[in-house]
Amino acid sequence: MNTQEYIQIEDQYGAHNYHPLDVVVETASGCWVTDVEGKKYLDFLAAYSAVNQGHCHPKIKTAALKQIEKVTLTSRAFRNSVLPIYYKKLHDMTGYDMALPMNSGGEAVETAIKLARRWGYTVKGVPHDKAEIIVASGNFHGRTTTVVGLSDDPSSFENYGPYCYDAFPIHEYGNIDSLKSKVTPNTVGILIEPIQGEGGVLIPPDGYLKAIEEVCKQNNILFICDEIQSGLGRAGKLFAHYYEGVRPDIVCVGKALSGGFYPISAVLADKPIMLTIKPGEHGSTFGGNPMAAAIAIAALEVIEEEHLIENSYELGIYFRDKLNALKSDKIIQIRSRGLWVGMVLTCKARPICEKLQHLGLLCKDTHEKIIRFAPPLIITKKEIDLAVEMIEKALQ
Ligand SMILES: Cc1ncc(COP(=O)(O)O)c(C=O)c1O
Repeated sequence: MNTQEYIQIEDQYGAHNYHPLDVVVETASGCWVTDVEGKKYLDFLAAYSAVNQGHCHPKIKTAALKQIEKVTLTSRAFRNSVLPIYYKKLHDMTGYDMALPMNSGGEAVETAIKLARRWGYTVKGVPHDKAEIIVASGNFHGRTTTVVGLSDDPSSFENYGPYCYDAFPIHEYGNIDSLKSKVTPNTVGILIEPIQGEGGVLIPPDGYLKAIEEVCKQNNILFICDEIQSGLGRAGKLFAHYYEGVRPDIVCVGKALSGGFYPISAVLADKPIMLTIKPGEHGSTFGGNPMAAAIAIAALEVIEEEHLIENSYELGIYFRDKLNALKSDKIIQIRSRGLWVGMVLTCKARPICEKLQHLGLLCKDTHEKIIRFAPPLIITKKEIDLAVEMIEKALQ
């Protein structure tokens, strides 16, 4: 079948909840994907940072294949021999006492909300059903019903209500006075993305995260960082919050935790918070299964062994400098941290992404006039040069 035939079947039988570029990928390796006609593209989206390690990474693939021969799912009714090693790996890499394994990023955020509320009632002493978690304008934390209730983007929340607005006051992202004005004695958590990815790689002003940490300490509130897209090297550090030297109380991770093989997410916290959830009070059939644990261990090892964080930091500067050197009156701003770039344009971004697709570069528009570039962190200078040539052409 050709591209058009696949698209016709997909549009006829699949829900229309996405508006993908019309490229039908059949195979992928490293930074490259190949469509059903055999055309190759450089992937500058990396599945929204889920394939930071590159597509079909051989080490992760071997770990998955080895595990599939042994046992894939035990459920948490029984213990398995891989999960403890995965827990230990997360602890060693991040410094948090404990992890709670889930599957999608949205579930990790839901888990963090439950954890903060549980802590709020049982430790802080907030009255029953009164816990508040302050969120940020422009946030994106996933698509589940509680989580879209945190959003101020109508395309996320409209006609999916009712919502519990009192439980999630929204402050202006980056504005610490706005944040302080939302704090009440019932505030149990402040949930933010240290860089807003879906918001178009929006980087808050310096000092914002540090100020949140202080507000949390002064008011006995948990600082919750959603690092699902920004973490595990994407922003040039293990976590984007490292840029301000803060230590959130709860961190959500996902996406690259699996290297793109399988939905894997986790919530990280220290014992006094994590152990407020007792046996039987939260869980998931698939969370922490042996297959996921084996894949996640390999995915984390690849990040370390191949120095992907350092590569993201260094080549991020290289990529940003090359983009800044482009002479195009269509570019308003280049925002970047590590290999994560938001290019703000004077014109609509979608036609530029379509043009780039034809030239052989895959990337994604967001908020109409922003293109987000997020190549796998294994990218080389040569591949960046190639991408920048295509971007220059597309902007002409
Ligand atoms: C910051 C952030 N949080 C949560 C999510 C939701 O993750 P998932 O799509 O795996 O549920 C995303 C997805 O893009 C995200 O960027």
